Amino acid sequence: MRLLVLFLALALPALAAAHSWIVCTDYLENNGWYWDDAKCRGWPRAATKFNIRFGAFGTQNNYRWRLDNHPEEKALCRTNRNDDKWYDADTPIAAYYLGQKVVLPHPANNHVSESKCRSRGQIDWENLMFVVDGDEDPCCINSTKLIQIMDMGVSPYGWDHPDEVLSTYPKPGFQNVPRFCEDPEDAMGTYNFTVPMDMAPGRHIFVWKWIRDPAVSPFTTCWEADVFATKAERDHHYLHTGRSTEDAWDFYQIHNIVDGMIMDPVDPSVNEIITG
Ligand SMILES: *[C@@H]1O[C@H](CO)[C@@H](O)[C@H](O)[C@H]1NC(C)=O
Ligand SMILES: *[C@@H]1O[C@H](CO)[C@@H](O)[C@H](O)[C@H]1NC(C)=O
Repeated sequence: MRLLVLFLALALPALAAAHSWIVCTDYLENNGWYWDDAKCRGWPRAATKFNIRFGAFGTQNNYRWRLDNHPEEKALCRTNRNDDKWYDADTPIAAYYLGQKVVLPHPANNHVSESKCRSRGQIDWENLMFVVDGDEDPCCINSTKLIQIMDMGVSPYGWDHPDEVLSTYPKPGFQNVPRFCEDPEDAMGTYNFTVPMDMAPGRHIFVWKWIRDPAVSPFTTCWEADVFATKAERDHHYLHTGRSTEDAWDFYQIHNIVDGMIMDPVDPSVNEIITG
């Protein structure tokens, strides 16, 4: 009995954290260090219901959606499509333009191979973006309605890589979590993907799929976004709904990092005043 209790105490925290999800569907900072909900212009389905915006970053564990071993039997998305129900003024639908680079934050949930503070054995297997052909949620991950639009790469892991590779950011794939060692559970990682130039303007369903390890079923997050042909049209839409029209900036372009410390103000508007 004592052994069983000890086993559970050791195993449960790891099991409880074995997942992730997309927190924001149009974030203003690529490769950023710390989450700031003010930088988020669009949200995934049911973000208000699950307190994704106002709760502490990374803590909404029951928002995760893991497919089962029989993808045909479990719905592809955490919640079925219902645009009126799942979006509101606090967590509106994102708007994209053709060719836009879109930044997607997600919590690390311990899954980073980082030589400075963790094991190097955290696998990263597949990070894909899809759009759905049509207005209805597809049945399953291998539906012909899912059109892959981007392979977001995989992060380096394992004992073959030098420490330097495993502790250098940005990284491709899931493990692009520069402040991982400060909070392995809830630190923020970001991806980016590009909106394809040949998409028809209008509202579309986007799907993120992550396979962390081939032995673990895929995780998904689903959301809607309004796609505009040009940035001018997208900007018009965002202005009318009280949102920023800026393009996402890169953390490393606006910050001066010396010995792992930010040497300038974190707020980019303050930064602009100082440098411009
Ligand atoms: C989808 O994948 C599952 C498991 O990989 C398989 O059992 C099923 O037959 C596939 N369905 C189609 C339509 O390919
Ligand atoms: C955007 O993501 C791709 C795929 O992971 C990566 O190769 C690229 O470096 C990223 N771009 C930036 C600016 O981080």
